[in-house]
Amino acid sequence: MQFGIYGLKPEEKEFFDAWAAENGVTLQFHQEILGSQTPADFAGDDVVVALQTVAYPPAAIEAMAQAGVKYLALRNVGTDNVPFATLAANGIQLANVPAYSPQSIAEFAVSLTLQLVRNFGYVIQSISHHQYTDAMQRTGKELGTLTIGVVGTGRIGASAVKLFQGFGSQVIAYDPYPNPALKDQVEYVDDLADLWPRVDVVDLHIPGTKENTHLIGADQIAQMKDGVYLINTARGNLIDTQALIAGLASGKIAGAGIDTFEFEADVYPAWEKNEAPANPLYEKLLADPRVIMTPHIAYHTETAVENMVTVSLNNAKAFVETGHAPHELDVAKL
Ligand code: NAD
Ligand code: COI
Repeated sequence: MQFGIYGLKPEEKEFFDAWAAENGVTLQFHQEILGSQTPADFAGDDVVVALQTVAYPPAAIEAMAQAGVKYLALRNVGTDNVPFATLAANGIQLANVPAYSPQSIAEFAVSLTLQLVRNFGYVIQSISHHQYTDAMQRTGKELGTLTIGVVGTGRIGASAVKLFQGFGSQVIAYDPYPNPALKDQVEYVDDLADLWPRVDVVDLHIPGTKENTHLIGADQIAQMKDGVYLINTARGNLIDTQALIAGLASGKIAGAGIDTFEFEADVYPAWEKNEAPANPLYEKLLADPRVIMTPHIAYHTETAVENMVTVSLNNAKAFVETGHAPHELDVAKL
């Protein structure tokens, strides 16, 4: 059995090696993500095991199919970058890792919130210029005095609800499918329009589907409290970036934590080369001390990395041995 591992990160290697030794499977490692591969690149692979935040090009999927690969095992949760129709048309089955560590992303969202409400952007900037009195004059807010609106209460959102409640925040949630585990523990609103005017922080934990694109735009921001904070560790397309920048400019928005940026595909090549991204919207947000921009790293903990590797490899092995995987997704229905 042979798996082609794409988008290999150095920190994953020890977990790949341990799993391969235990399971007697050959792993072919590739640091590059799926892009311009040809069928020859996939020679001998039974499964392609991939991790990337930018789109999977249909041509790479077709090259996999031409090489006889029948399975794609993702090492992550989100599938918004996957061309489902191309997979279906080529008879390639798909699996993801739905819960490698919801806590990792939820903790990051809380961490962004804490940093924003304590003015970390200004404080760090001031201190780096030896402007200590500026840092000393910045008064923050405590989470226990704030109301948090958690949008999406699946695995990650539910963890975020509990973490914020642990800080004493009041939490209001919205999800068209309320989480039974949170019954009696959080107040759900029936409509997002009821959530926007009531919360100090909007924290997003929903998939980046077409329907959710620009869930937050100028109209929604106008309905929010003055001085609202926005936290997006979910997907960049959920927030209309132009509207976010306008909201910051007017002061309506007090700050934003953006781990997932709307135009991530445009800035990703620069991130990879440790260069400044040329995207003007990105530059504007990065230069604003009220904004914390991180390069899609909310997931990145030791626990998450180990689970992403081992669960995706278990999916891959099950695909080869049984034709199905524990976390298989129906590409025809996505
Ligand atoms: P999940 O499927 O467990 O939960 C998602 C929830 O969102 C579901 O309960 C669903 O009903 C709800 N939902 C969908 N559309 C909604 C809407 N318009 N309004 C309110 N609720 C809505 O998924 P999860 O594991 O919690 O992950 C959520 C998202 O987090 C993923 O889809 C992925 O995009 C993102 N994510 C980001 C990172 C990162 O490193 N930044 C890591 C993992 C996942
Ligand atoms: C996900 O798991 O969906 C993420 O956003 C993490 C990323 C490394 C792909």
